[in-house]
Amino acid sequence: MRPWAANLAVRAQLSGSKYPARVTRRYSSALAQTTSKKSTASESTISNDNDNASRSAAPSTSTRPSTSAPVDPYKYLAPELARLRKTLLHLLGSSHPSLTTIAEYYFLQPSKQIRPLLVLLFSRATNGLGADWDEKRWAAEQEGARGRTEELDSPLSRPDVLNDWNPNMPDQSRSFESTFELPPRRIVTAPPVYTRASITSPALASPQLLLPTQLRLAQIVEMIHVASLLHDDVLDDAALRRGAPSAPAVFGNKLSVLAGDFLLGRASTALSRLGSAEVVELIAGVIANLVEGEILQMQSAVTGGETGPLSDLGLSELGLGLELGKGKGRVREVGRETPMGREMWNVYLKKSYLKTASLIAKSARAAVILGGTREGEIWKEVAYAYGRNIGIAFQLVDDVLDYEAVDSQLGKPGGADLRLGLTTGPALFAWEEHAAMGPLIERKFEQEGDVELARDLVRRSSGVDRTRALARAHADKARDVLQLLPESDARRALEALTERVVKRTS
Ligand code: FPP
Ligand code: MG
Repeated sequence: MRPWAANLAVRAQLSGSKYPARVTRRYSSALAQTTSKKSTASESTISNDNDNASRSAAPSTSTRPSTSAPVDPYKYLAPELARLRKTLLHLLGSSHPSLTTIAEYYFLQPSKQIRPLLVLLFSRATNGLGADWDEKRWAAEQEGARGRTEELDSPLSRPDVLNDWNPNMPDQSRSFESTFELPPRRIVTAPPVYTRASITSPALASPQLLLPTQLRLAQIVEMIHVASLLHDDVLDDAALRRGAPSAPAVFGNKLSVLAGDFLLGRASTALSRLGSAEVVELIAGVIANLVEGEILQMQSAVTGGETGPLSDLGLSELGLGLELGKGKGRVREVGRETPMGREMWNVYLKKSYLKTASLIAKSARAAVILGGTREGEIWKEVAYAYGRNIGIAFQLVDDVLDYEAVDSQLGKPGGADLRLGLTTGPALFAWEEHAAMGPLIERKFEQEGDVELARDLVRRSSGVDRTRALARAHADKARDVLQLLPESDARRALEALTERVVKRTS
């Protein structure tokens, strides 16, 4: 019997049932509760103590709106976020000090940390609901179960060796002075023995507990995000990021790209330690999505052009079946309600998903999986749906701010999208009201005065307001799906975040 199962069996014996009710609970019963809307206020309160018996009933999934005051998501998790930020730097050490310096560079500037925040909020809002929660919590406490902080924290690579170091062959692989010998076979240490005492020792039973794997996931997604920013700032030739000179401006393009690759390597190692193939697959998929989003953006920016580097690729080769970029003059003829206009919106929103929402949605889902949600349970679907909607809302507001905010608010120059030839929500909406936008879009705002003219057309249209309204529609949908979760401070913080994302000014 697997150790965690033994744990459950012992606890079940103590409580007189085959397995704790929590473990045998299924998505169907949770969903039935969700939709029946019969929960009482007392059922909807999740115990915060160590008494498993008091938590053995399925938690309520009340749909009543929160009556308590909103919870500020950043204040709610401020200590955890500060700690994550600090300990993340330990993961970035390389035996090459300058690589460490560049890899750390963006982490030292203030940032919104929205991705780690969401991972932690979803962990708190769902831990305890999944059928495998007891197993996950048990693993977080037991030596050798691959879920403890100590195991996740063992060095991702030895800082004192510049080149390859094989952890299974510490002496043999340290030196390059001679040929490489295979070491003698070593006796593998037996797995730890789980005594009854260790199995039955009281768990950190609060449903608000954050598992070490979830805390590490929050750091991994921030590493991937920062890796993508390092690459993005090279591609966009960006001078500023987070209110300071960009990494390429300080260290050059080559080192910035390499530092991004290094971060991805570190993130991959840390990811593999989380012990979930499903989570590895999800997060690896995000990295692919980021690249696909960037390519899609490049491609949509060459709309109408015959000579761009991607003009021979054809969007259909990316599986998108799009017809953009085929022949000059087409943009001039279309509006939003035409097939071309619809395609442009489709590409824009798809790109927004791939570049921004995918990471948010899949990392929230991964957090819930790490908390023990099984296939078929609704909790991870809630996380994905929330993340996808709020992620798109976040990007839409980002695109509004590129028109509205001043440079000091953004920590980077406003108006960058137009200068990069990118048509985003405000310009697409403005185009419906001002046909003059069509030719500008077509020539990627390239001619002198185009950027200023486009900004003026947007200013004289409802483009910004309508983009914000679209962001609000996505944020509202994110808020709606949260009603499938039990009432908790974490859920209220997630609700408050939907409002913040729409109203943010930086
Ligand atoms: C910022 O976009 C950039 C992204 C959200 C993702 C960029 C992705 C890549 C460069 C692909 C490579 C990915 C990895 C993981 C190495 P933006 O330019 O619209 O925003 P900005 O104004 O903040 O620069
Ligand atoms: Mg950029």
